[in-house]
Amino acid sequence: MGLITVIDRSGEFVDVVGTLSASQSDAEVHAVAALDEVSLGAEAPFVVVVAPSTPPAVGFQAAQAAEAAGAHTSVVIVAESVDTSLMRAAMKAGVSDVVAAADPATEIARAITDAYTAAQGRQRAAAQEAEAAVTLPVGGRVVTVFSTKGGVGKTVLSTNLGAALAKGLDLKTALVDLDLQFGDVGIMLGLAPDRTISDVAASIERLDADLLWGHMTHHDSGLDVLLAPVRPEDAETVTTGRISRILALLREMYDVVVIDTAATLDEVVLTALDKSDAIYAMTMMDVASIKNLKISVQKLAQLGYANGLVHVVLNRADSKVWLQPHEVERAVGSEIYARIPSDRIVPRSVNKGRPVVLDEPRSDVAKAIMGIAKSIAASAGEESGHVS
Ligand SMILES: Nc1ncnc2c1ncn2[C@@H]1O[C@H](COP(=O)(O)OP(=O)(O)OP(=O)(O)O)[C@@H](O)[C@H]1O
Ligand SMILES: [Mg+2]
Repeated sequence: MGLITVIDRSGEFVDVVGTLSASQSDAEVHAVAALDEVSLGAEAPFVVVVAPSTPPAVGFQAAQAAEAAGAHTSVVIVAESVDTSLMRAAMKAGVSDVVAAADPATEIARAITDAYTAAQGRQRAAAQEAEAAVTLPVGGRVVTVFSTKGGVGKTVLSTNLGAALAKGLDLKTALVDLDLQFGDVGIMLGLAPDRTISDVAASIERLDADLLWGHMTHHDSGLDVLLAPVRPEDAETVTTGRISRILALLREMYDVVVIDTAATLDEVVLTALDKSDAIYAMTMMDVASIKNLKISVQKLAQLGYANGLVHVVLNRADSKVWLQPHEVERAVGSEIYARIPSDRIVPRSVNKGRPVVLDEPRSDVAKAIMGIAKSIAASAGEESGHVS
């Protein structure tokens, strides 16, 4: 239902407007004595009609106030007499229409109906825009590498994905080490932990892009890393609320945000998963890892994470164990999204602190990880296309 407010000093014109707007079946007509009684907030009227008893200049003020407030309101002035200077001044002020009190009733009714329809359209457009702003994540893509089993290669994958996206695919990429107790992203990338996520968490009141950027450790691949706390006890300041704020800001600052996690499904990991556009659920091919993955995938489904969000990544896929990839798929109940072969160059690269994708880009391990990075880059491109 829309509101038509008549600014009417005499109180006589409101009935005329009521009769004229009868065709606007969903409109409610009411009168006020002065402009300052008109609310231009969420409940702003669709039309403000300035009655002949009220000076036309009140209509100019109403139109300007509506514009300043971002209200959808249209203004119609019904004046005792209309001349070109009044018309011009009204147009300049953003008034929708000016009619003379002596004009035929149909003419006055048309002016009010047109103004009403225009305001309705503006309100609908604003509502759609607001909805779009809520549903479309602004900024980059957030991906989390996840497994409740330790030692399956999460940190190998996240560090290599970060380097591949930053250096190989030239995307602005951040890597966050959310393994707050035992994070070893810094070690695998050969980075010194001068500043970490616990320093950001301690300064959360002043959090902005500059502060956050200043706490990132910059890798020579172009990757920016938010390292885990040096001492496990420093993780206490890194609450889930703070993590949420940090991740939301990183999403605005970067094309892609990669998150490495601890081998658990606690509140910290859930905070990361909540913010993620894709989850890479890692497993190796031994029975214990597969069983773990199966339970995790079921748990994620119960928690309401959409099936399409979770991608199973099989690490050390060619290991000589008795399970075959298709048996893994059957056991877990999900398709395998990517396979990373087993290779001695991985532990070697871990020891050197140099990602495989940079040091051995021709290796099968690097190619497999590059494949995942490319699909992230493709969807990051789609998304930014949406937003702009
Ligand atoms: N494809 C691979 N080929 C050979 N070795 C690998 C491969 N992937 C991982 N590894 C080895 O497994 C070890 C554990 O990997 P990583 O630290 O990435 O696991 P994680 O899941 O992060 O463990 P945690 O849960 O303890 O953080 C690494 O040190 C690495 O040497
Ligand atoms: Mg790890």
